[in-house]
Amino acid sequence: MQGWLRRKDIDRVTVHEEGRRLVPSLGWPHLVALGIGAIVGTGIYTLIGVGANLAGPAVLVSFLVAGIVCACAALAYAEMATMMPAAGSAYTYSYTVLGETIAWIVGWSLILEYTLVVSTVAVGWSGYAVGFLQGLGIELPQAIAVGPHAGGVLNVPAILITCVVAGALIAGTRESATVNAFLVVAKLLALGVFVAIALPAFDASHLHPFMPYGFAESIGPDGRKYGVMAAAAIIFFAFYGFDAISTAAEETKNPARDLSIGIVGSMVGCTLIYMVVALAAVGAMRYDVFGQSAEPLALIMRELGHGVAAKVVAAAAVVALPTVLLAFFYGQSRIFFVMSRDGLLPRSLSKVGRRGTPVAITVFTAIVTSALAGVARLDEIAALANAGTLIAFVAVATCLLVLRRRDPARPRVFRTPLAWVVGPVAILGCAYLFASLPTRTQLWCLLWNAFGLLVYVLYARRNSLLGQGRDA
Ligand code: ALA
Repeated sequence: MQGWLRRKDIDRVTVHEEGRRLVPSLGWPHLVALGIGAIVGTGIYTLIGVGANLAGPAVLVSFLVAGIVCACAALAYAEMATMMPAAGSAYTYSYTVLGETIAWIVGWSLILEYTLVVSTVAVGWSGYAVGFLQGLGIELPQAIAVGPHAGGVLNVPAILITCVVAGALIAGTRESATVNAFLVVAKLLALGVFVAIALPAFDASHLHPFMPYGFAESIGPDGRKYGVMAAAAIIFFAFYGFDAISTAAEETKNPARDLSIGIVGSMVGCTLIYMVVALAAVGAMRYDVFGQSAEPLALIMRELGHGVAAKVVAAAAVVALPTVLLAFFYGQSRIFFVMSRDGLLPRSLSKVGRRGTPVAITVFTAIVTSALAGVARLDEIAALANAGTLIAFVAVATCLLVLRRRDPARPRVFRTPLAWVVGPVAILGCAYLFASLPTRTQLWCLLWNAFGLLVYVLYARRNSLLGQGRDA
C-alpha cells in the first residue's frame, strides 16, 4: 500500500536538475495583476446571466456562497503556496502531503480545469467580440460566429483568440505578465462604468420574487437543476483564478511575501467587485431578460439607453478577457510541466525553450483548447471546469489540515487564521457545490478521472521518478 501513498519530501520540492528549472522573474505586483487578470472574466461578464436564470435575483446569494467557499480555499492555498513555493500548486501540495495517487487525481483534475477554463473564456470572449463587431456594422456569418449548439458550425473567433494568447505566452512570461497588468486595469474600468450607469437605474421591483426557485436544488420542467445552489455551482467559475497564481510560485522572486499578497489580495478584491456588479445588474433589469444574452452586461447598458457605454464595456471585454486565457494557459502548461518532470507524464514535455517557457506543452494545450472552444457550449464546459477545480480545492484544504496535524512545528510564512474552521468550510462547501452541479457534469468528471486512474496504473505509476527512488 505504501507505494500508492508514496509522498514527495516536502523539503525537496523546490530542488530541480539544471535545464528543468523555471526562471524566478515575478514580483507581487505581477502576481496581483495575474490574479485579478485570471479571476475577473467570463464568470462576471457572461455567466452572471446563466446564474440569474437558475436562481433569479437571488443570484446575489449565489455569489455570496461561492465567494465564501472560495475565500476559505484561497486562505488554504496561501498557506500551502508559501510553504511550498514550487510550480504545480494543488498537485504538488497533494504529492507531499496526501501521496502520489491523490496527487495524480488532483493533477488530472487540474488539467481538466485549465483546459476547459481556457475554452470557456474563449467562447465568452467570442460572444462579446461578435456583439462588438455588430455594433460597428460588421456582421460575421452565423456559421463561423458560434458553435453548432447555437446554430453555427465553428466558433472561429474563439479559436483565433486561443492561438493568439498561446503565441504571447511562448514569447516569454515576463513580457506577457506586464502587458497583462494594463489589460487588467481596462477590465476593471469597464466594470466601474457598468456599475456607475446601472446602479442609478436600480428598481427594487426587479428583485421580486427574490428566490423563485428556492435555495437548495429543485428540478425545473426542462429536467435541469435550479435554485441558489445550482447557480452558485456555476457562478463559482467567476471566483477562481487565484490558484493560477500559486502555479507561478517557482517563478516568484520573494515567494513568502508575494504569494500571500497575490492570492488573498486579489481574491478579496474580486469578491467585493462582483457583489456590486451583480447588485447593479439584477436591479437594473429583470433577470430573465439579460439571462438569455451572450453579452449580458453590454445588453443591460444598451437597454438603459447607453449605446456608447455598451460599446466601451464590450470593447474592454474583448481587449481584456484574454488576460484570463493567459493566466490559465500559463497554469495549464505549468501543471503539465511539473507532472512530466516528476515522470508521471512523458519526460520530453518538461524541456523548456530558450526563453525559459515550455513550448511543446503550450502548443499542445493550444490545439486541444481551441478545438474545444470551436464547438463546445459555454455553460456545459464551465460546469465541468468547476468540477475539476472543486476537486483541487478540496485537496488543498485537506492538505492544510493534515499538515497542521502531522507537522505543527514547521514554520509557516502565512498562517491561515482559524484553520480548523476555514479548512472544513472549504471542504464541505466545495462538496455541496459539487453536489449542486448538473448530473451530467458530475458523470463526465467521474469518467475523466476514471480514465485518468487507468493512465496512472498503466503509465504514470511505473514511470514515476519517485517510484524509481529518484527525485525530480
Ligand atoms: N474566474 C475566471 C472567469 O470568470 C475563470 O473567467
